[in-house]
Amino acid sequence: MSEGENPMNDYVIETQGLTKQYGGKAGCRDITLQVPRGVVFGFLGPNGAGKSTFVRTMLGLLHPTGGSATMLGRPIGTVSARTRIGYLPELFRYPDWLTGRQLLETHAGICRLPRSERKKRINVLLARVGLDGRGDEKIRGYSKGMQQRIGIACALLPDPELIFLDEPTSALDPIGRREVRELMNELRNEGKTVFLNSHLLSEVENVCDHVAIIHKSELVVQGEWRSLSAVKAEVEITAASLPDHVWSSVSSFIVDKKKLSSSHGKDTWLVTLHNEEHIPALVQRFTSHGALLYQVTPKQQHLEDVFMYWVNRKEQETYVGDRQIIL
Ligand SMILES: Nc1ncnc2c1ncn2[C@@H]1O[C@H](COP(=O)(O)OP(=O)(O)OP(=O)(O)O)[C@@H](O)[C@H]1O
Ligand SMILES: [Mg+2]
Repeated sequence: MSEGENPMNDYVIETQGLTKQYGGKAGCRDITLQVPRGVVFGFLGPNGAGKSTFVRTMLGLLHPTGGSATMLGRPIGTVSARTRIGYLPELFRYPDWLTGRQLLETHAGICRLPRSERKKRINVLLARVGLDGRGDEKIRGYSKGMQQRIGIACALLPDPELIFLDEPTSALDPIGRREVRELMNELRNEGKTVFLNSHLLSEVENVCDHVAIIHKSELVVQGEWRSLSAVKAEVEITAASLPDHVWSSVSSFIVDKKKLSSSHGKDTWLVTLHNEEHIPALVQRFTSHGALLYQVTPKQQHLEDVFMYWVNRKEQETYVGDRQIIL
């Protein structure tokens, strides 16, 4: 195995039925999850789904009411599980009379970072989060985005192996968001794992391969989002000389078809297929029936489509006795 390569089943987070109830109300329920090492893992869900509850339970800030979990192989709730972990909370408020640098120095003390390393590390981190030259200003004078950046610097201070970022870009402008995306990519390239809570799907799409979707306190699905392909494939086809009977020859693998436009003897169709594996067969049937194809363009699938599919599916779930039925 080459350096930096991870063995199979090397998970930095493993949970078994992890549950946190607030009184009688579910925060997160029966979450069984595996997070592979060295990925940016998107933990996605609508508002109130239970994302922050899950993270705070993992970090020992909330006591689980059921199930079990490990981080970096150690049971949650123990001090040893929290070493080499970074955390940017969702709602944070730092002492605003401190400068950014003083805040980092305070955190460095809490993390027991050796004194000899502190100054250099703090300077590196200030630069890394785009606060170079602003570290000696008081936090009270920081914009919301700058506060979020200093929060990310705090999370990175202990050089963590696993970093939880709860909505890290909510206050950032588009440039700041891109910078945080690049930072997450760099961390992954260094072999770290980033656990990213978010509902900004277009952003997550650009940085995460692995995701888990949580809805109404329960895990709906997890895996590499491009392979969560229960979402149907769409392809745009422009063709001439398309005989009507061609459609019956492809009826077994198409779900729907819609004519988008017609011009100069060519028709453009939007065809929905059960999955993209059927595209070559569709093209083959069309040409064998004498159609002249000018364009075959699979529509790019977006994480938002995958997300909406699984969330809607969860919405339509119903139970008969103890049997789960998807309507
Ligand atoms: N301290 C608390 N006491 C009681 N209920 C809580 C508490 N914190 C969260 N909840 C409830 O638990 C559920 C999950 O909340 P949580 O904050 O984990 O959701 P979230 O997915 O992080 O949402 P958001 O996207 O808005 O941040 C919600 O119904 C919420 O009202
Ligand atoms: Mg939250």
